[in-house]
Amino acid sequence: MKLTVGIIGTGAMGAGIAQVAASNGCKVLMYDTSKEMLTKAVDNIGSSLQKLLEKNKLKVEEKNTIFNHISVHSQMHDLAACDLIIEAIVEDLTIKKGVFSSLEEIVRPDCILASNTSSLSIASIAAACKQKERVIGIHFFNPAVLMPLVEIIPSLTTSEEVFNRSYAIIKDWGKVTVKAKDTPGFIVNRLARPFYGEAIKIYEEGMADFATIDYAMKSLGEFKMGPFELMDFIGNDVNYRVTETVWQQFFYDPRYRPTLTQKRLFEAGLFGRKTNKGYYDYNTAEMPQPNTSPELLQKIFLRIIAMLINEAAEALFLQIGTREDLDLAMEKGVNYKKGLLKWADEIGLDIILNELNSLHHWFGDDRYRASVLLKQKVKEGSRFY
Ligand code: NAI
Repeated sequence: MKLTVGIIGTGAMGAGIAQVAASNGCKVLMYDTSKEMLTKAVDNIGSSLQKLLEKNKLKVEEKNTIFNHISVHSQMHDLAACDLIIEAIVEDLTIKKGVFSSLEEIVRPDCILASNTSSLSIASIAAACKQKERVIGIHFFNPAVLMPLVEIIPSLTTSEEVFNRSYAIIKDWGKVTVKAKDTPGFIVNRLARPFYGEAIKIYEEGMADFATIDYAMKSLGEFKMGPFELMDFIGNDVNYRVTETVWQQFFYDPRYRPTLTQKRLFEAGLFGRKTNKGYYDYNTAEMPQPNTSPELLQKIFLRIIAMLINEAAEALFLQIGTREDLDLAMEKGVNYKKGLLKWADEIGLDIILNELNSLHHWFGDDRYRASVLLKQKVKEGSRFY
């Protein structure tokens, strides 16, 4: 038996992370305040393993061993012997802080306390602890069993030893790890913002409808789903909240400004697939057909990809991650066909900069201001790689 791992909060993410840890030989102790959620998590892990068995990806003995590694607990005290605890409870800072300060009283001093938060700062969670150096962000993607990427986020107070140990553990679980600075949205949720925000702006201006924008990104950018299909899939409630939080945390920088279109869908309860209606109506079999004018599709694609690349360039400039990690994160966290910086080199940095400058000039809106790094590279005639 390798490590003993505690999982706090066994909803969608917690159950997935528990399965990943148990599949890698760890003893996993799951704790949740809701008995119902604990039972549901065990059922979900059971059926996930059963599917792997049916697909011949697991043998019966392996399945049983993994399942036997997992136990459920309704007392936080039961997690005392853990080497690592990953918290995946509700996204609420006050509640998370309460959990972290209680945990600290229970576990050994060398136990790593990690949060799977998507939008809160690790520094703010660590502030609840006396031993702040052992608090870190370990951010999985949904579904945790299938998505290869995990962002590892040290806060200002995390020790190097805790970072190195966390990084090594998650790598050992077969995940692709990237190091991200403790800033809003970390890497993926920050770099991906324009995919949604700029697509909605294009729609709001009447330049194209949802189906055409989706088609442009799928056909020219080889994205698996267009922005509107993806927002309906993620849920407009979840996506709107992330957008709003990132914008607020960036002190209302217009680059991250949410749109009223998405806010209204959220307010109206039109969340997407889970409510059968969002940008698209899933009650009808007929989906709207895109306009396939090559000039229009190219215009849409160039505008959205320029905004995505600008965000990646700015993140590199601000040292949110290394060039390689920023690219790897988008390939492995959201299935982009290639990293945005690599993509920028291929398209040509001057083309991207021209597009941003003309949008900035036309709209007079600072959301289109080009990253200093992009300007510098064009001036020097250099590339990202
Ligand atoms: P969820 O709502 O499915 O599960 C949360 C679980 O936490 C529930 O089972 C609830 O009973 C439990 N819980 C609430 N308060 C608790 C407490 N004080 N002590 C113990 N258990 C408690 O949530 P989900 O979607 O799994 O998200 C969990 C965390 O992971 C959040 O921080 C979220 O931002 C983050 N995350 C979510 C992703 C997603 O796509 N859903 C992706 C990556 C991160």
